[in-house]
Amino acid sequence: MTSILVLNGPNLNLLGQREPGIYGAITLPEIEVMCRARADLLGVLVEFDQSNHEGVLVDRIQESVGKVDGLVLNAGAFTHTSIALRDAIAATAIPTIELHISNVHAREEFRHFSYIAAVSVGLICGLGPAGYPLAIEAMATHLTSEGA
Ligand code: DQA
Repeated sequence: MTSILVLNGPNLNLLGQREPGIYGAITLPEIEVMCRARADLLGVLVEFDQSNHEGVLVDRIQESVGKVDGLVLNAGAFTHTSIALRDAIAATAIPTIELHISNVHAREEFRHFSYIAAVSVGLICGLGPAGYPLAIEAMATHLTSEGA
């Protein structure tokens, strides 16, 4: 069965209390429930994880080789800073969708650049928490059409 890892970076554990005007009131565990519901409908497996630590995220991506078919990554602020995460995606060649809750292009200029985008299949941003199940669906479709 197709397996997709949804991986969240720094400060996303604070969703629900963190800048609700930007990120909304929904919590990360609630987003996980949304992801699992969509995965069930699609008939795919979902792993869901979060870390505030860059190296832990790199480890998680490396350990996922051969275990997951696709990655949905909200790298948080590491999106804009981390060559290490970019290299982990390139090194493992796990198909990746970059995800952001907020529209990073409508925010501060330092959020406009992404190290992840160039090694990603595609990007979803600005659609709020609904972007998570959409990204799972997009990845499931991508993996199916790749194999076709
Ligand atoms: C974010 C956008 C990033 O710029 C920010 O650092 C985050 C969250 C988002 O989901 O909108 O932590 O990735």
